[in-house]
Amino acid sequence: MCGIVGYIGPRETAKVLIEGLKRLEYRGYDSAGIAIFNQGKVEIRRKEGKLIKLEELIGEETFDGKVGIGHTRWATHGRPSDENAHPHKAGRVAVVHNGIIENYLSLKEILKSKGHIFTSETDTEIISHLIDEFIQEGNSSLDAVRIALDKIKGSYALGILIEGDERSLLAAKKESPLVVGIGEGEYFIASDVPAVLPYTKNFIFMEDGEIALLSAEGVKVFNVKGEEVSKEPKRVNWNSLMAEKGGYKHFMLKEIFEQPRAVIDTIRGRLSEEKGDAVLENVHFAPTFLKKMKRVSLIACGTSYHAALIGKFLIEEFCRIPVEPDIGSEFRYRNPIVGESNLLIAISQSGETADTLAALREAKRKGTTTLAICNVVESSLAREADQVIYTHAGPEIGVASTKTFVTQLVILFLLALHMGRELGILSKEEGKALIEELVRVPHLMEEMLKASNQVSKIARKYLHARDFLYLGRGINYPIALEGALKLKEISYVHAEGYPAGEMKHGPIALIDREMPVVVLATKNEVYEKVISNIEEVKAREGMVIALASPSDREIVHKVDDVIFIPETIPSLTPILLTIPLQLLAYYMADFKGTDVDQPRNLAKSVTVE
Ligand code: G6P
Repeated sequence: MCGIVGYIGPRETAKVLIEGLKRLEYRGYDSAGIAIFNQGKVEIRRKEGKLIKLEELIGEETFDGKVGIGHTRWATHGRPSDENAHPHKAGRVAVVHNGIIENYLSLKEILKSKGHIFTSETDTEIISHLIDEFIQEGNSSLDAVRIALDKIKGSYALGILIEGDERSLLAAKKESPLVVGIGEGEYFIASDVPAVLPYTKNFIFMEDGEIALLSAEGVKVFNVKGEEVSKEPKRVNWNSLMAEKGGYKHFMLKEIFEQPRAVIDTIRGRLSEEKGDAVLENVHFAPTFLKKMKRVSLIACGTSYHAALIGKFLIEEFCRIPVEPDIGSEFRYRNPIVGESNLLIAISQSGETADTLAALREAKRKGTTTLAICNVVESSLAREADQVIYTHAGPEIGVASTKTFVTQLVILFLLALHMGRELGILSKEEGKALIEELVRVPHLMEEMLKASNQVSKIARKYLHARDFLYLGRGINYPIALEGALKLKEISYVHAEGYPAGEMKHGPIALIDREMPVVVLATKNEVYEKVISNIEEVKAREGMVIALASPSDREIVHKVDDVIFIPETIPSLTPILLTIPLQLLAYYMADFKGTDVDQPRNLAKSVTVE
């Protein structure tokens, strides 16, 4: 986890670093720190707690240096404290780091025996000592970094300052994300693009094993052997406003309301109404691959895993191929049965989730064709998969995923449609009918968002409940899981999602008049069964909040509260059901006063196992 940023240029360095860290705080907020050259010396300010604590520490202080690095931490090695906060400095070398150094204990012993004194419990501190060791031996900055990195095992995105070389900023990457922003006479490093979007839209995406040397004259990139490699900057079309709150109280609320736009952007240019097919740029299967394909594995973590569960329903229905959804951390350690006749689809907003990435690598090692569904352009997953489809949701800042989840559902719908058409399972007419319904979805989402006041009243009514149960069947069941996860994540209320048919095998024992049960009861082939489950809850005096179809007027008499969901086909209903559940979690959390955008103990991008 963690976020890093760096700057070299004429602006006020501390300000650029702090602004960048604000945009990276979703990656961790246990401590924050900056290092800036000041009259040839590296000055460090770092503080446990959120970024605001660091800002208070810096106060009115100014630094005249034009080169600096910054860090926001999600603790892995060593508790959150001032001493463990980055940057870490040893001798002439200051470092910020995102990743984990696996062999840090053995390196620490060697360095200690050479007289190095350590002041933190972190794995990162050894990097500064190691580079300093090679600087003292008389190597150039670039060579010292190169030789040090050769001794390190693990993952890293690094920003490095070296006293005596105050016109340079070095950066290196292995398995943790790192971009280099190219401005006019100013250059940046960052863990992701939005961190420095206000300053530039041109980026070099660093590859594993590369080291960048930034100076006022420009950026040079070197490989592990120290040879210069030529890298073309790419232009991104996100704008910085997309990463700001735009009048909403929280990023999460803004991102919930942005969902119709995110879906429009994700669909744009990807439909051929004439052919009744989806046009997915970059997706090309070998002619006989799909016909010979025996199984699809869908791999993801967290909210993205819930998208994978929906993907199973869509692909099985449109393609008649068995689909196995799996959690990244389970798949990777199971000696999974995959190979040439399988397709593995890895789903990840960030494209950096360690377990999802490891699962993809394991599948590739076994000869499986892989496809990634990602939101972050040029992320590790996007680059390592054989093919990639991007969700065009724009940057998501709230730690709890919202707009990226619904756009993942849209991509899975498009992919299932496309594969179904290729396989000849779906006719052109069926394809056209599905597309016709899909293009209505953004408008229906707008309709759904109009229920936000009603949902906020429901949240207030049930604010004191300590536990919630969410029930759904079939394709709506994963949305019950997602609704429960959202509530847990941001309001810290215990919630469980369950397949409604399984309620009688356990959760029914929990039901009493204190327990709100959210039931996804839209009209579909299992509607009658869900109504029976509602009766079972009511018979035990449970309170029911139903999400129902507008044509269902009878349900009003059976339950305590109803939220009507605009009518669409069952395979698209999950997108609409998601919205009121996101809003319910949001308002509960807001009324409770929790930190909605940065819930405790969580991080947006989990780049550790
Ligand atoms: C973290 C986030 C979740 C997210 C999950 C998977 O736990 O807090 O919101 O769903 O990681 O992230 P990914 O980037 O792989 O979708």
